[in-house]
Amino acid sequence: MDTFEAIRTRRAIKKFDSTHKMSPEDVKFLMELAILSPTSYNQQNWRFITVTDQSVKDQISVAARNQAQPKDGSLVIVLCGDTNAWRKDPHRYWKSAPKKRQDQVVAALKKKYAKSLENRRDEVMKSCGFAAQTIMLAARQMGLDSCPMRGFEYDELAKIIKLPEDHIIAMMVVVGKALEPAAPRGGQLGMDEVVFENQFF
Ligand SMILES: Cc1cc2nc3c(=O)[nH]c(=O)nc-3n(C[C@H](O)[C@H](O)[C@H](O)COP(=O)(O)O)c2cc1C
Repeated sequence: MDTFEAIRTRRAIKKFDSTHKMSPEDVKFLMELAILSPTSYNQQNWRFITVTDQSVKDQISVAARNQAQPKDGSLVIVLCGDTNAWRKDPHRYWKSAPKKRQDQVVAALKKKYAKSLENRRDEVMKSCGFAAQTIMLAARQMGLDSCPMRGFEYDELAKIIKLPEDHIIAMMVVVGKALEPAAPRGGQLGMDEVVFENQFF
């Protein structure tokens, strides 16, 4: 499968085959790809909770307002972010670069995030968005399907995964084998409504 086909065939699956399991090696392989997704200043602020334990998946389904995907999917990935990644030994994000470059990045991180919780939250959402798409496309290449999900009770899910104080949850992605294909697409907007050349008008 090439990238174009993965993009075209990725759909938000509602019914997963509950008998399908992913091996620990497959989960590791998928997450090794996920952590190649881009982050601003390479701050790698995403944190991924990978859940294959059925009892935890069951609890997540309840937190997800009884949606079936978490309990029936093979793997639930809760995409979270560390809003303080910018100040946790940030030189390590550029450990392969010269010291001067490391210092530049650390200064830039401080300037952008020290005083703005909004910027820190935005950055988690951006990073997790890219990671989610990486996961969903890689899953297609592995012969698997997925569903991105934000329909859950935040506090309940936070409790289940023991979310640290300075972290936030962006979304979940369920990965597994589709039992049924997704319903036909809802209807994409026309290019003329969403794509503009050079300027809006
Ligand atoms: C941020 C986000 C949250 C979503 N939450 C849910 C959800 O809780 N349950 C669900 O079944 N689908 C969820 N979806 C899937 C969307 O409904 C789906 O992506 C959209 O209808 C387009 O369909 P497609 O992904 O098959 O092209 C979510 C998608 C996104 C991007």
